[in-house]
Amino acid sequence: MARIGVSVLNADFGHLQKEVDKVSNADFLHFDIMDGHFVPNISFGASVVKDIKTDLKKVVHLMIDNPENYVDSFVKAGADQIIVHIELGEVVEKVIKKIKRNKIKIGIALNPRTKLHWLRYYLDDIDSVLIMSVKPGFGGQKFDHNVLPKIDELRQMFDKDICVDGGINLKTGRMCTLAGASSLLSGTCVFGSKDPMKTVEKLRKI
Ligand code: DX5
Ligand code: ZN
Repeated sequence: MARIGVSVLNADFGHLQKEVDKVSNADFLHFDIMDGHFVPNISFGASVVKDIKTDLKKVVHLMIDNPENYVDSFVKAGADQIIVHIELGEVVEKVIKKIKRNKIKIGIALNPRTKLHWLRYYLDDIDSVLIMSVKPGFGGQKFDHNVLPKIDELRQMFDKDICVDGGINLKTGRMCTLAGASSLLSGTCVFGSKDPMKTVEKLRKI
């Protein structure tokens, strides 16, 4: 059974705590931090991560330039894991060191077109890989099926958590778990459904 994460990016920000309470059966909450530079959208900062009350693990997905300058503030906000994009190049090593010092989990994210070989150098140092199945920046996009062989190839070289992020629903989620994903992350499919809690359960069972 896959671990299920819920992205709050497409939740109703006017009632965010209530929305989050609807998915208390998920395994983790996923907070998409966007700066309008690294991705063409702006979302929210560490104070939102801090203010959300939940027993679920808080995973922070940094889609920002200079992430090394923000690690401490998200750790203080209660992040259990921080994910940084491999596309940032040599900064990644600095960010990994900072996250390690704070003794929380480390994830590396890859955009749909980014090749796996960039990852090899880091695989022993990280807890999870986030395979983006949409171009980062917005929820509600269509799943990119071209990432399926990438999940399969990664599973051959990495036995820890592989999470897929973007356009995940019951069908695409099943394709990902069959390809080797151990976690699924969904936003629109969950919060766009009549019963988010039930949708989380269904995703877990696929
Ligand atoms: C996109 C984000 C995703 C997104 C997932 O840049 O990283 O986490 O919010 O949302 P859905 O499930 O709507 O694609
Ligand atoms: Zn994300």
